[in-house]
Amino acid sequence: MIDLTTNYMGLKLKSPLIASSSGLTNDVNHIKLMEEKGIGAVVLKSIFEEQILMETDKMIQKNEGEKMQTFSNSFNNIVNEKSYHYEEAYEYVSNFAKEQTLGKYLALIKELKSTVSIPIISSINCVSAYNWHYFARRIEEAGADAIELNIYLLPSQLNMDGPSYEKIYYDIIEAVKKQVSIPVSLKLGFYFSGLSKSIIDLSNTGIKALVLFNRPYTPDFDIDTFEITAGNIYSSENDYAHTMRWLAILSGRVGCDLAAGTGVHEYTAAIKQILAGADAIQIGSVLYEKGYDAIADILDGMKIWMTSKNFTSLSDFRGKMNQINVKNPAALERVQFMKLYSKIE
Ligand SMILES: Cc1cc2nc3c(=O)[nH]c(=O)nc-3n(C[C@H](O)[C@H](O)[C@H](O)COP(=O)(O)O)c2cc1C
Repeated sequence: MIDLTTNYMGLKLKSPLIASSSGLTNDVNHIKLMEEKGIGAVVLKSIFEEQILMETDKMIQKNEGEKMQTFSNSFNNIVNEKSYHYEEAYEYVSNFAKEQTLGKYLALIKELKSTVSIPIISSINCVSAYNWHYFARRIEEAGADAIELNIYLLPSQLNMDGPSYEKIYYDIIEAVKKQVSIPVSLKLGFYFSGLSKSIIDLSNTGIKALVLFNRPYTPDFDIDTFEITAGNIYSSENDYAHTMRWLAILSGRVGCDLAAGTGVHEYTAAIKQILAGADAIQIGSVLYEKGYDAIADILDGMKIWMTSKNFTSLSDFRGKMNQINVKNPAALERVQFMKLYSKIE
């Protein structure tokens, strides 16, 4: 009997597959279907910090329109009252925008908790310390089993050094962790000046898991119109290798659980991530491209492979090919493969 259960962030998952945060995890019916196909947990669509800030600015700029009338009146009253400063009015609007965004989100968590039995991980997409405690506590109260912080900072500021970027991560983790007792995980990109050390240090901040890695949105160029366009939204089935390498380098060395993210489209890639040391595997693009049957396909493939290797549980092969356990650990760090390159004409 094959056992696919795993422990992730202190949560017991019936399978190692987690639906990563996306538009598909914003809907109860979709999540029910995923549960039927064997998904172990879901990460809800993120609440975006930038979205709330944009919403706030839009509300302030657009002081008309039927829908906004009541709100506009309140806003104007506040600004007009001599005792109020603009900043206070801005705060009022900002709270209004937050409440609107949060209200829908909390309702989704509550509905899911009474509909499905898999763990529900909420997701906050943040680029600064902002006031995430406001969200985090309410999310916990609504019944979420965990919170995933999706922090993706592109270190593109010409005057900002690595430690200044890293400080933002620590500030966000501290602000959120202070407010909640449910487990908190961190989903990261890979733009760190010293990736291994940064990840190990972050893993020791009290977070329960790291998701390696988020997939950055990448712009593209249209060479006919000279416009900037959107690159591929979905990952491809070869993209798993980048994550696999870093999981293999870091597993057994970090202070929290690890989830693989990006590029898992096939059961073979899922197996490789467990061999590299993953406690769980997040999948997103494959659900868009192949539908929810992909969940059952990946799990079935894993079971067949495990049977053929006489493995009965994930712990039988988790980390078997990480850098601590392989015979030639240097192979995981190789970036130039002269032998191979020189053979290709
Ligand atoms: C359409 C779409 C929407 C996404 N929305 C979010 C989001 O709201 N929050 C987030 O953390 N990641 C989001 N992601 C990123 C995915 O959660 C995932 O990290 C990424 O797609 C890489 O995994 P994959 O290769 O399995 O797709 C989104 C991805 C896609 C394709």
